[in-house]
Formats: sequence, structure tokens, C-alpha cells
Amino acid sequence: PTIHVIDADGAEHVLEGDVKASLMENLCDHDLPLDADCGGSCACATCHVLVDPDWAARLATPSLDEQALLEEEASYQPGRSRLSCQIDFRAELDGLRVTLLPRR
Ligand code: FES
Repeated sequence: PTIHVIDADGAEHVLEGDVKASLMENLCDHDLPLDADCGGSCACATCHVLVDPDWAARLATPSLDEQALLEEEASYQPGRSRLSCQIDFRAELDGLRVTLLPRR
């Protein structure tokens, strides 16, 4: 299954996703610019990405902890913002499109 990633410069990258890994791990494994400082513990929000609206509705809703962290982000976009470490990538998400934010 593929993941389409638009980087902060607007360039599109198409990755072959690993369904045993989170979205964050997939992005980092392909050397995309994402910090993920806390290593996936839902504690830092440096793995914040924007999910395309069509896809956002197909993901499990964020936990209260994830939602609280997202709402503190200056770049928070309701309905699109997610912490990529909290999304399990799986085959049904083939074609998922996400946009990276500029690094802080
Ligand atoms: Fe820290 Fe996702 S890596 S919240």
C-alpha cells in the first residue's frame, strides 16, 4: 500500500508503506523531514501532519490526549491535523495522502 506525502516545499513523495508500522515510523523510515521527538509516545506533537480531508474521516478518531496536543499547535487545522505516531498504517489506507508541516 502506498502513502502519498506532500512535503513542506510542495514536493510529492510516494512511499511503499509498511503495515506493521505507524504512519510516523513510515515517514521517518523514508527519511522524510519529521522530528517525532518523543518516539511515538503521544507527548511531543513534532510528528504533526495534515491528512487530506477525504482520508481524515476514514481514520479512527484521535484520543483525548492526541486532540489536546494538536489543539496547542499553531498550525492546528480542525479535521485535518493528526499526530502521525498515533495512526497505525494498514492496507485499507492504501493511497493515504498527508502533508508535512515546516519543521519548527
Ligand atoms: Fe511525539 Fe508523535 S512522536 S507525539
